[in-house]
Amino acid sequence: MTTLAEREAELGRAGYNLFNVPGPRVLIDLLTDSGTGAMSSEQWAGLQRGDESYAGSASWFRFRDAVRELFPFEHLIPTHQGRAAEKILFSVLGAPGLTIPNNTHFDTTRANVEFTGATALDLPVPEALVPASRHPFKGNMDVDALRRTLDEQDVPVVFMTLTNNSGGGQPVSMENLRAVREACGEVPLFLDACRFAENAWFVKLREPGYADTPVPEIVREMASLADGMTMSAKKDPLGNIGGWLAVNDDALAEQCRNLLILTEGFPTYGGMAGRDMDALAQGLREAVDEDYLRYRIRSTAYLGEALDRAGIPVVLPVGGHAVYIDARALLPQIQPLEYPGQALAVELYREGGIRGCEIGTVMFGRRPDGSEHPAAMDLVRLAIPRRTYTQSHIDFVIEVCEYVAKRASELRGLEIVEEPPSLRHFTARFAPLTS
Ligand code: F0G
Repeated sequence: MTTLAEREAELGRAGYNLFNVPGPRVLIDLLTDSGTGAMSSEQWAGLQRGDESYAGSASWFRFRDAVRELFPFEHLIPTHQGRAAEKILFSVLGAPGLTIPNNTHFDTTRANVEFTGATALDLPVPEALVPASRHPFKGNMDVDALRRTLDEQDVPVVFMTLTNNSGGGQPVSMENLRAVREACGEVPLFLDACRFAENAWFVKLREPGYADTPVPEIVREMASLADGMTMSAKKDPLGNIGGWLAVNDDALAEQCRNLLILTEGFPTYGGMAGRDMDALAQGLREAVDEDYLRYRIRSTAYLGEALDRAGIPVVLPVGGHAVYIDARALLPQIQPLEYPGQALAVELYREGGIRGCEIGTVMFGRRPDGSEHPAAMDLVRLAIPRRTYTQSHIDFVIEVCEYVAKRASELRGLEIVEEPPSLRHFTARFAPLTS
């Protein structure tokens, strides 16, 4: 536990950037759901079974079979995490002058697209940008906008992010995925499938015709509409590390594997140890277990519904892996370029030792041409690590949020005093504004 004075000192040292605060100085860490979950006893047993043969280990075959069970793409290319898969794929497919549409790119995906000189274009449905709209599939892509983009731009690949992380952890419907597939025609469609199981669970709950379909079947149907995928196994597959790229196209697979060997490792382990692959093979089975998913989605909703009842503006309906507070609505006195999301995230840490993550103008406001613009929304994401916190931890989070919300009108914005050329949210330093 830390005192208020200790946390204030920590914030000063960190340049008001919560990524710079040491984990032991955080009481409840909702920075991310990525790699922060608790592995099950069977996953730990998998670690013990790990076969560390350099080439063709038994762990690789168990991992490959578990992935194929859900995502039967022709070629599976293991990586150490999601962004490594993105880096490899976009190194092959991206180039200046090309446009890559996505329902909404997450930070590393956007950065990896832009690093190649290509343009990362977000095409969410309009409801996605209205935090209070209760559309059941706010992760959907605007299919008409996609059609126009495909007519007017040079598009090497279309991406769909399941669930849509930057836009509230909102799911994509099967109907929308089918419509996107059809609009793509010959252009390949890839899934950024980090939270595929949560997305499939929402399809089962909310989309007509899927109530009796087992989750693994829903996942396979989603995969059948795509030509490949990138994956961070640190999310729904319940790993602490890991990822993959999967593709159907033989020539593309060969180019990607060549890059894999340069940067990640041999094609039967990529960036992972054998034991990691065994833990993931088991994690994939647990991820689609419906009792687990019911518990997972209910516990996120528990937090979101409590904040909503307390009058705190949150993205509705509550998403899968996180609750997103609408900081722009809660702090109307702070202009987007004074970072209301960052101000709120800092205050939650200062008051209660709770670490959330700004998803707004700090993360997405700086354009590749150097200009700065408000992001579509200024949110604070409270991501829920899988199988980690109890209801009483979450009750404490609710109390702190309520306390901070009552004093919302006193909060002030921040300015950036130091920032790198891209992905600035990880390392930028801020100073509080005094007026
Ligand atoms: N795609 C999405 C939708 C993600 O949410 C992330 C990571 C990645 C790709 C990259 O995966 O971290 O394994 O390299 N999101 C984390 C988060 C970091 O906090 O949401 P990675």
